[in-house]
Amino acid sequence: MAQIRIENVRKEFGSFTAVQSSTFTIEDGEFFMLLGPSGCGKTTTLRMMAGLELPTSGQIYIDGEEVGQKPASQRDIAFVFQMFALYPHMNVRGNISYPLKSQGMPSAQIKAKVGEVAEILGIADILDRPVGGLSGGDRQRVALGRAIVRDPKAFFMDEPLGALDAEFRERMSEELRALHDRMNATTVYVTHDQLEAMQMGDKIVVMNHGVVEQFGVPQDIYDWPATKFVAEFIGSPPMNFLDFEGMIEAGQDEVRLGDAAIARADTERAEREAAKDRSQLLDDKGADANDATSKIVSIRSKT
Ligand SMILES: Nc1ncnc2c1ncn2[C@@H]1O[C@H](COP(=O)(O)OP(=O)(O)O)[C@@H](O)[C@H]1O
Ligand SMILES: [Mg+2]
Repeated sequence: MAQIRIENVRKEFGSFTAVQSSTFTIEDGEFFMLLGPSGCGKTTTLRMMAGLELPTSGQIYIDGEEVGQKPASQRDIAFVFQMFALYPHMNVRGNISYPLKSQGMPSAQIKAKVGEVAEILGIADILDRPVGGLSGGDRQRVALGRAIVRDPKAFFMDEPLGALDAEFRERMSEELRALHDRMNATTVYVTHDQLEAMQMGDKIVVMNHGVVEQFGVPQDIYDWPATKFVAEFIGSPPMNFLDFEGMIEAGQDEVRLGDAAIARADTERAEREAAKDRSQLLDDKGADANDATSKIVSIRSKT
């Protein structure tokens, strides 16, 4: 499996910049979420990591090797575009073994490998069935089997559950996460659904308008949004915002809003923890320290 790092990656389509300058690292074995609203550049980022799109500038490393200008075929990544795309004229075994056949693997080896993957996915009993009559869940397992069987360095999934109804989606997301935990395969998963990202991800990158707004573990992103966009996008019910006008002096640890004293959270971890207990956060990141008009005071209600 693999560590993937992208550094100052930018993508322009003509005069439009889809990804500004992204930098983050996906550690080996992580379930990693690319999260953000529609059009923010998630798919473009994923496609650049996969080699389906070349970055305008910046570097992409897989296990330390720079692959930014290499084609997809040299990156050994399984891209699960659409879970339900199966070959209709083949049975389950045929679908799963297809990538190995194309590689020219001997058939005894294919048989063993397909059996192994079918065990992992719990579909060993349906290997000889045609795919036409399968349930949605089994179709999805077969599609996953076809990706897993190659032993790729990483799995990329672009909104794989997007088309499913809420209940099935929930079940499948749990299954995907459980599957990941059994295999410990580096997985990059694109979603616009913050709940899905929070529930499934080891780490999350939050994007907006082609910009990485924040990168971290779900709990930190929830508790310590780095920008107002993240604070608004993550969490249900959403964070409250109160405009504050005034100066925050150096060393000052609270501000007054009407009759209330709002504690100022510092960037230091200890301060964060203390403020977390109070469930209050004064976030002035992204604003100039001397610019008194653009401070944001945000308070996450205790749940
Ligand atoms: N091949 C392309 N040519 C021109 N614009 C594109 C192309 N691919 C994506 N875009 C634009 O780049 C932006 C980001 O797209 P995309 O990465 O698909 O967003 P997301 O997956 O977050 O919804 C969108 O505004 C989209 O219209
Ligand atoms: Mg997309």
